[in-house]
Amino acid sequence: MNWSSTSMRFKRCFCTLMVVFSLSCVIGLFADPKMEKTINDLLGKMTLEEKIGQMTLYTSGWATTGAKMDDNYMDYIKTGKCGAIFNALTAEYTKKLQKVAVESSRLKIPLIFGYDVIHGHRTIMPIPLAEACSWDMAAIEKSCRIAAIEASAEGINWTFAPMVDIARDPRWGRVAEGSGEDTYLGCLIAKARVKGFQGDDLSKPDTIIACAKHYAAYGGAQGGRDYNSVDVSERTLFETYLPPFKACVEAGVGSFMTAFNDLSGVPCTANKFLLTKVLHDLWGFNGFVVTDYTSINELVPHGIAANEEEAGKLSVLAGVDMDMEGGVYMKYLAKQVKDGIVPMNRIDEAVKRILIAKWKLGLFEDPYRYCDENRQREMVLNPKHLAFSLEMAKKSMVLLQNEKNILPLRKDIKKIAVIGPLASSTEDLLGSWHAAGDGKKPVSVLDSIKEIVNPGVEVLYAQGCDITESSHSGFQKAIETAKEADVIILTIGERESMSGEASSRSDIDLPGVQNDLVEAIATVKKPTVAVLFNGRPLTITKLTKKVDAILEAWFPGTMGGKAVAEVVFGDYNPSGKLTISFPRSVGQIPIYYNMKNTGRPIDPKNKYTSKYIDIPNTPLYPFGWGLSYTTFKYSGLTLSSKTIGEKDVLKISVDVKNEGKMGGEETVQLYVRNIAGSVTRPVKELKGYKKVQLNPSETKKVEFELNSNDLAFYRFDMSWGPEAGNFEVFVGGNSQETLNGKFELKMASAQ
Ligand code: NOJ
Repeated sequence: MNWSSTSMRFKRCFCTLMVVFSLSCVIGLFADPKMEKTINDLLGKMTLEEKIGQMTLYTSGWATTGAKMDDNYMDYIKTGKCGAIFNALTAEYTKKLQKVAVESSRLKIPLIFGYDVIHGHRTIMPIPLAEACSWDMAAIEKSCRIAAIEASAEGINWTFAPMVDIARDPRWGRVAEGSGEDTYLGCLIAKARVKGFQGDDLSKPDTIIACAKHYAAYGGAQGGRDYNSVDVSERTLFETYLPPFKACVEAGVGSFMTAFNDLSGVPCTANKFLLTKVLHDLWGFNGFVVTDYTSINELVPHGIAANEEEAGKLSVLAGVDMDMEGGVYMKYLAKQVKDGIVPMNRIDEAVKRILIAKWKLGLFEDPYRYCDENRQREMVLNPKHLAFSLEMAKKSMVLLQNEKNILPLRKDIKKIAVIGPLASSTEDLLGSWHAAGDGKKPVSVLDSIKEIVNPGVEVLYAQGCDITESSHSGFQKAIETAKEADVIILTIGERESMSGEASSRSDIDLPGVQNDLVEAIATVKKPTVAVLFNGRPLTITKLTKKVDAILEAWFPGTMGGKAVAEVVFGDYNPSGKLTISFPRSVGQIPIYYNMKNTGRPIDPKNKYTSKYIDIPNTPLYPFGWGLSYTTFKYSGLTLSSKTIGEKDVLKISVDVKNEGKMGGEETVQLYVRNIAGSVTRPVKELKGYKKVQLNPSETKKVEFELNSNDLAFYRFDMSWGPEAGNFEVFVGGNSQETLNGKFELKMASAQ
């Protein structure tokens, strides 16, 4: 980030805010006098090495996402050289480690225990991208609440979640862990997740510290290749990538994790602009910052540090408080402080932040409060959690296609063929980052279908092919099985490990020979439903032509098999809406609904306009897309005024009618376009949505309000605010099919 390149006006706004926020940070850091005394006393007693120990995080070695750097964590805990452990699980084991810290180390400072509680702990919920498609903030918050209840019963008091990276490139495997392509929705989801993990009081034994990651713009990795460089303008950074992180700060998130990537020339782990100026000075964050796995060490290959020693210096001076697994602080920091390269007050600041987190968790009062074996027995895989996981899975599924209303299927169809490599799989239902989830726990889709259909219905099965292998040897049996049946359910998609970290793909079509299987089954010419399991949008243009219906089940979690059966057989009417666009082909990537218009917007009759000559510009399925077993009709879009002033509220209403025969839920979406600004604006921006439940033939008036603040953006001079001018309003059930209106914003002061 080239700080010197920013406009003068932006610098001035920023500096004023900095002073205000810096003061509030200093005041806010020690809100509790007892905490202040304990922590200051401790700091007074700590050696430099013990302070650096608090800034050191090691994996206990169970699961790692990089090279294991050091195995001596037990010794380090005993000698005060390690203040935090991750990947240690169970009440019993964490208690054992905690006992060493509080009984054998000189100052008896308790450990904090981190873990990747990404979508559930033992009860696995749908992957975060799937949950986002529910557009249900209360449900998303509850999902994280349950995850925290289970994790905290097993000794965990810090999760490396939520991942709030806006991502617009489905080749990047980590789109699975986030909330999709939209910043507005991303902010709401970020807040809901922080609230869910942290609850309203961190000292309660069932709440855990959340960690906003990966700070920042990791989702912008060039080519969708994980860990790759990101180069975005300051405007895009502030407008698209940073808001969900700011939302986490507003929700009181306790920690931040730096991203692996280089951001416009400065790797995030050494990025003082991000880690100090924006995070602490501008946003007033008063928690602590941890690196991602060995990302200090990686400053050397990034080419910003000549060696690890220099890497450590750059990170600590940039504002990184804790070194995850790299061991760099442990090796070099003490000498750097003694040599006057790193000031002691920077060390004290980092240690204070970490000790405050431990205090807030109640660990000084009772270091074993998260290691309660009775609670573990009661809470882990609690039936209520499993019941919620089932609900969440159903809410997350998106009905992409339903020709001739083939879905829902009747439960008395005589013969059903379940075909495909994901029918009998259980672990794949859990999806990537199902860290503590047991792959044997889910009931497969095949078994769940057998359970849901009427007695006497025959459920036939053929695997057809493997998820990724190239053999066609199972095709013949699959075709014969299909021929026998009245309806075919194809269970296809990705293996759970094909999305998530280090799982970028250049081809995001169905892997292996699954497209060939689809073709082969299509020759049988029977009604066919495809159920997709995947952690990212897939380019399924071919599939849409070969099957009647497509249900996007994502990776739905522990109860995913049952959820699929309930949706397919109509016990549940799907209502999920995509929060990420599905491209027609990889060549369209990046593709997202809120693009710019360009100076030559597409005109099919004019060659020299912005388009492809081989495919349309539009995605296969747009942002906000999702069908229901009923249909909703939109009419009567009304705006309360044609003109609003700076302090006015514009009321927008629309009538939504359920025209089908089944009750259903619709997510009514409101988008706005700023027709002309001092900088170009997206063709549409989500500004609100409402979920409505409608009985057959029922109509509801859905109302929205907009004011000038909702129209604010980073203007030409990088100041934040609205600009007078003309706006278009769009309301509909997805980002493409909308009713449109217009209004004008008049401002007293000309912009
Ligand atoms: C690397 C991943 O990028 C990060 O998301 C995760 O939290 C850490 N490893 C710890 O497992």
